[in-house]
Amino acid sequence: MKIALLAGDGIGPEIVAQAERVLRFLMADGLKMELESGLLGGCAVDATGEPFPEATRKLVIEADAVLLGAVGGLKYDNLPREKRPEQGLLTIRKTLNLFANLRPVILYPELANASTLKPEIVAGLDILIVRELTGDIYFGQPRGIEQRDGQRVGFNTMIYSESEIRRIAHIAFQAARRRQGKVCSVDKMNVLECTQLWRDIVTETAQTYPDVALTHMLVDNAAMQLVRDPKQFDVIVTGNMFGDILSDEASMLTGSIGMLPSASLNDQNKGLYEPIHGSAPDIAGKNIANPLATILSTAMMLRYSFNQEIAASRIEHAVKKVLKQGYRTADIFESGMKRVGTVEMGDAVLANM
Ligand code: NAI
Ligand code: MG
Repeated sequence: MKIALLAGDGIGPEIVAQAERVLRFLMADGLKMELESGLLGGCAVDATGEPFPEATRKLVIEADAVLLGAVGGLKYDNLPREKRPEQGLLTIRKTLNLFANLRPVILYPELANASTLKPEIVAGLDILIVRELTGDIYFGQPRGIEQRDGQRVGFNTMIYSESEIRRIAHIAFQAARRRQGKVCSVDKMNVLECTQLWRDIVTETAQTYPDVALTHMLVDNAAMQLVRDPKQFDVIVTGNMFGDILSDEASMLTGSIGMLPSASLNDQNKGLYEPIHGSAPDIAGKNIANPLATILSTAMMLRYSFNQEIAASRIEHAVKKVLKQGYRTADIFESGMKRVGTVEMGDAVLANM
């Protein structure tokens, strides 16, 4: 199992260092992995002039999985678009054809007060959002802004092929099998033909998974249900645009950006794993960033790219224990708890493993 480590910018190197310790612990314990570091984003621009240098392209193509910290920072904001750190991330997604974005939204009972919603609405929340990442209105042609009848009009095209819908539906059903066995597919079939096809294909794909219960929901209702009664959901599967919006909405139900991992997969289960937060330049270099989202991203990597369910659960259990024991970085701190830094949080996870 060859893993590319791309620490990136800002807090990236600090949080990836803690995730690397977790992986090395598992290696010492017998898991066969090979780790190799590369440059992506602003640090790559500094070193080579390119956000996604050739050496990194080779590294991620050869690797079986990629662990990414985060990219970006103020000093790069004035660069032309193709030289910006974010371009490195977009190019990696395209290069590896990462069409399935998985975002677990878990609220650990110990952090129920971090949410802006009432604790009883969110305590124990455990949803998986499966968002299609390479199609939909974000990529459809034609698109543009042009002059028509004396005024400008803007237009985009919402488009999905059957095969694109089918492959993301399979990912959602397979994920549901490892969970509570429920998939809610979100669309807007009452007004958009594209999403009528979405509903038809998801329904058809469900026949291969008789053990999974499929429901459908219109996206406006889904947005409402996520804040009214989020615990009704297990797996939510949806297209790129609805998924962009709903996954951000859902992640904030937990109130703690430093806790949430993500995976972006292609059809060979090769994946890019990263925390959902950015490079947090405001706290970089201070040993206060929460490394748990990145550590939990390694658990997703072991589960989805390498089928190492035991090692993955081991990491997740260690994180739960650390929270039970009261260890808190600044972003999730409450009075009465043990305030720790990035490295000490890594220590606590390792101790529990
Ligand atoms: P951000 O997620 O980096 O930070 C938002 C707030 O959350 C900040 O106050 C930050 O200190 C805090 N925060 C984030 N991660 C944390 C952690 N692990 N522990 C404790 N606190 C944490 O978003 P922001 O500030 O909008 O963007 C900063 C830079 O990151 C920008 O250059 C942006 O483009 C980039 N970015 C990169 C992403 C990626 O690499 N996937 C995703 C989002 C933003
Ligand atoms: Mg978004």
